[in-house]
This record gives sequence, C-alpha cells and structure tokens, in this order.
Amino acid sequence: MSDASADPEADAPQLGIADAERLLVMGRRGAANAAAERILSEGRVSAQEAGRLYELTERLGDAERAEEVRRALVAGMDTALEANFDHPVVCHVCGYTLYLLREKERGIAALTRSMSLAPKNFDAARTLLGALLLDGRDEETMAIWLPYLSELGRDGGVPKEDLRGLWINLIAGLCHFGYEAQAAEAVRQAGRLLPEGQADGLESYLADAGAEPASPDQMTEMFDRFAEIYDRNLEELGNNGPLFVARALEEIGVPRDGALAILDAGCGTGLCAPFLRPRARLLHGCDLSPGMLAKAEARGGFDALTRTDLADPASYPEGAWDVVVAADVLTYFGELPGVLRNLAADLVPGGWLVFTVEDGGAEVLEWQRYSSGRCRHARGYVEASLSEAGFRAPEVTFTEILRREFGAPILGTCYAARKRH
Ligand SMILES: C[S@@+](CC[C@H](N)C(=O)[O-])C[C@H]1O[C@@H](n2cnc3c(N)ncnc32)[C@H](O)[C@@H]1O
Repeated sequence: MSDASADPEADAPQLGIADAERLLVMGRRGAANAAAERILSEGRVSAQEAGRLYELTERLGDAERAEEVRRALVAGMDTALEANFDHPVVCHVCGYTLYLLREKERGIAALTRSMSLAPKNFDAARTLLGALLLDGRDEETMAIWLPYLSELGRDGGVPKEDLRGLWINLIAGLCHFGYEAQAAEAVRQAGRLLPEGQADGLESYLADAGAEPASPDQMTEMFDRFAEIYDRNLEELGNNGPLFVARALEEIGVPRDGALAILDAGCGTGLCAPFLRPRARLLHGCDLSPGMLAKAEARGGFDALTRTDLADPASYPEGAWDVVVAADVLTYFGELPGVLRNLAADLVPGGWLVFTVEDGGAEVLEWQRYSSGRCRHARGYVEASLSEAGFRAPEVTFTEILRREFGAPILGTCYAARKRH
C-alpha cells in the first residue's frame, strides 16, 4: 500500500484494528493505511479480527494488496480449522472470518458445523443467521432455523427468555433484510411451537415499512428502556456516529478553544460530548427520553440538559447556538423540512448544523421507514430539505460505515451546512 502518512498516530505501536478503522472513518486514509500495514507486518491479527483487517485493506482502495492480504488470511483460517475441526468455537470464529474473506461457502459450512457441534452456543447460530441473510439465502435460513428452534424448545433445558430471544433474532433478522413474508411465517411458527403466552407480542417485531415513524410517547418508552444498555450495545455494533460528528467539526474548522455555544440535539447518553466539550463555552444537551438524559447527566460534560421533542419548537431550550449537532437522531424522522426548521430557529446566522442520516441507497427517492423503525434518507431529499429549512448547500458531506447490524454495514451520511444569513 502506498501513501504511508507521517501522522504521528500511525507510528504508535499499540494501534489496533479498531483504531485503524476509526482513522479511516475520520477520513485519515494515510494514517489508517500505515496502521493496517503495521498490524500486518507485526502479525498482530487474531482470527476474530482477520475479516475486519481484510475489509479495511479493501476499503483503503489498493485491490492488489487487499487480495494479497486476503489470501494470507484465508491460509491462516484453513490451518486453524484443519487442526480444530471438532472445536465449535474455532469453527464459529474461522467460519465467520472465511465468510468475510469472501470464502462464503466454506465459511457457511464451518458455521453450520459449529452450530451442530454446540447447538446451545447461540452466538454461532446468530452469526450463521446474519451470514445467510446477508447472502440472500432466506429459504436456507428458514430451513435451518425453524427446526433448530423447534429442537431447542423440545430440549426443555433452554431458559424461556433465551428461546424467545432467538425467535426475536430470527424475526428481526428476516425483517432487517426485507424478508417480510418469511418473518410473518416465523411469527406464526413461534405461536405454534412456543408454550402458551411465550409468543405474545412477537408480531411487534414485524417490519412496518412505509408506516409513519413512532410517536413521541412510543419513542420515549423505547429509549427509556434502551438507556441502561445503550452504550454497550452501540459499542458492540461498532457505532461511528460520534466520530462522524468529530470529523465534520474538524473539516469545517471548528476550533477547540472553548468559545462556542453548542446544542447537542437528541444527545442520548452523551456519546458526542467528548468531541463537543473542548469546543464549547456552553454545551447544552436535549433529548426526548428522560432515561437517556439521566445517563448523559451521569456521564457529565454538559452545562445543561433539557427534555425536548425536536418536533415541537416550544420544547427547545432557549439559546443562540453557534453549532447544533444531531447525531443519529434525524433517522427517527421521516420528513425533514419541519425538524430542520426547528433546529435552525435558534442557530445564529451562519451557524452550523452538523447531522447524520442513514443512507437511502439508490432505491429510496425521499425517505423510507424500515424494519427497525428508523428511516433512510436520499441525499437529494436531504439537500432539498436543508434548502427549504433555510440552510445553504452543505459544505461537508461524506458517507461511511455508521455501524453494523447482523454483521452487515449500515452506511450513514454526515452533513454540515450553515444557516443562511
Ligand atoms: C440513536 S440515539 C443517538 C444519541 C446520540 N446523539 C448519540 O450519538 O449517541 C437517538 C436519540 O434521539 C432521541 N430522539 C428520538 N426522537 C427524538 C425527538 N423527537 N426529540 C428529541 N430526541 C429524540 C432518542 O431519545 C435517543 O436518545
């Protein structure tokens, strides 16, 4: 790979794959490249991380080098599998890695073996679920998972919450990848196979694409429930939302001189605060969910926190903001002009709005709600909505991996736009 950067961070010997990935999300390709090469040359690659390392080298854009890396990593997985063919954990880890290394069939075979060697290692079953669905193999998924769940139910030794959780994994996974009819069938089968009462409410996991976003009360309830595990869960999903904001602030040149009034709109538990605090004279967080606000309070870093519905202008805190940030929040809104107007209302003229949305992809014309209850937005629609709401054309727009769900990357786009004078 070329272009090793002189960036001091890239020379730090302790940088791991997660650091290299973060550098790439931050737009620092040279540093990410140098870190990846260093990991490779020092052989600091675990089986769990090999797939991510290959993906990183591929995203860095040197196809020949990526192929070289892929071949070396596949050889490592083959050796490990050969020596440990009866070990469910090795089959799980190496199978998933082979899958990520584009050796899909062999990867899926090893995952299937892991699942049959240790049926109660639910992680392997979940990994196989994601791998099959990501590969468009819905029929195989149903053919493996329905008998699997039926067998686990007959076993009697599986706690009922675990069993219900696995049915939820299946239903949510099918919906996530757009297999709504199969998900409805899974709900029916759960009703048939689970003991009385245990399948209650599973239909609420069915996709509701095209329907209106959740009401403020539903949203509050959902995030209040989620608050306790939010940080850990987002870390497991490889959440990059706050890094998107950090990168946009760097790119627009917001100095770290503690001079600005910043509103963190939909602040959640305050994951963006560490990036905002050094730039803020006043850092105000607001959110719909009291549970999330309590976590933000406990984290610290904010000068004030307010309960606010971003859809309701009357509930906004008073202020004259130099920067308003909305990380991973507008994805809970379908139509954007109204909420963007609200976010603009107390921005000073020329002030910045920095926000992320989930990427619409080619098939989304304006916005579309999908199974998770979130929305995806088309770039043209976001730009038109910004203009309608009183913003200039965005000066920063970049698309990167926002997080992963069922192992599949969710792409997000970050925008930074100034309010018109
Ligand atoms: C995925 S979290 C993101 C939190 C934080 N910005 C971060 O980057 O971690 C989405 C947050 O938006 C909040 N939210 C959703 N709809 C909202 C609304 N209408 N008004 C205010 N906050 C809202 C939720 O309560 C939740 O805390």
